Amino acid sequence: MNIVLSGIKPTGIPTLGNYLGALKNFVKLQNEMTDYEFFMFVADMHAITVPQDPKELRQNIKNLAAIYLASGLNKERLTLFLQSEVHEHVALGNVMQSITYMGELERMTQYKDKMAKQETGVTSALFTYPALMAADILLYDAKYVPVGEDQTQHLELTRDLAVRFNNRFGETFVVPEALVTKVGARIMDLQEPTKKMSKSDDPANKGCIYLLDPIPVIKKKIKSAVTDSDTKVYYDKENKPGISNLMTIYSVITGLSFKEIEAKYAGHGYGDFKGDLAEIVAREIGALQERFNQIIKSKELDEILDQGREKASYLARRKLSKVYHKMGIGRN
Ligand code: AMP
Ligand code: TRP
Repeated sequence: MNIVLSGIKPTGIPTLGNYLGALKNFVKLQNEMTDYEFFMFVADMHAITVPQDPKELRQNIKNLAAIYLASGLNKERLTLFLQSEVHEHVALGNVMQSITYMGELERMTQYKDKMAKQETGVTSALFTYPALMAADILLYDAKYVPVGEDQTQHLELTRDLAVRFNNRFGETFVVPEALVTKVGARIMDLQEPTKKMSKSDDPANKGCIYLLDPIPVIKKKIKSAVTDSDTKVYYDKENKPGISNLMTIYSVITGLSFKEIEAKYAGHGYGDFKGDLAEIVAREIGALQERFNQIIKSKELDEILDQGREKASYLARRKLSKVYHKMGIGRN
């Protein structure tokens, strides 16, 4: 079985960045890679690497599972599950830690950033999380892992660990490859376009579009996005980060290239461009929200998650016993 796998942490409400950088791409890949099966999971064990409010976390997990479905993934070819319900993830995560060096984890940008900001309370789970992420992927022999650009370092580590394990204990894991979207891989904050749009931001942040924001709020956020004092719509990431970010959003949703967008808005000001973009995003996210509202109150979501857990558990159990056997863990 050929598998494409990816996960998202249920921390906060997913953003337009998650949608354009990850979710929309999963759907596109699913349509194109017809001989692959898609495994998507809610990375709830990763969420607790930073403190979570239990009530909010439970809600975020359900919301994220429903958002996966609402984004248009085809249920027939999708195995959707919660990471915490397949215990082999944590077990293989432990195995991965046993072949990961401290220096490798210390080099991870995400960890370094937190340490550089001198944030207090950086947990050991945050430090070791790349080993758990490697386990998430290797457990299923996933061939391709679609992620945003910020995850490529973790994917490199996963590949190193797969090769290391195979060399030490014999052929066991498929060495996975990252699939990074070119356009949309990095959607920036609308108020601070040099910073990534992130769901861990303050929910009151006007620069971040949450997928479950009311549609009028989404339109307002786009219309009040920070832009420069020039008036011409053209792509220049260095000098016009605000407009370039909006053009990226426009391009990913409509499929138009930057050149085509530039031609379309030649002679128009930012106001027209932003107004059109607000409508385009509202239409896309409005449709997603309609599907979301149906799914979240239906019984189907739990049924899909139950089936996903069964299927994932079966494969995960098989792989983990192979791993234990090769390493000499347990009795057989
Ligand atoms: P996270 O929000 O960090 O759990 O990321 C979930 C997925 O969304 C990952 O594949 C990220 O690379 C992707 N992602 C998160 N934020 C953005 C963003 N601002 N632009 C593009 N992709 C993003
Ligand atoms: N670390 C990823 C993120 O922060 C989420 C994730 C966890 C993931 N496990 C994964 C993504 C396995 C792809 C494959 O976005």
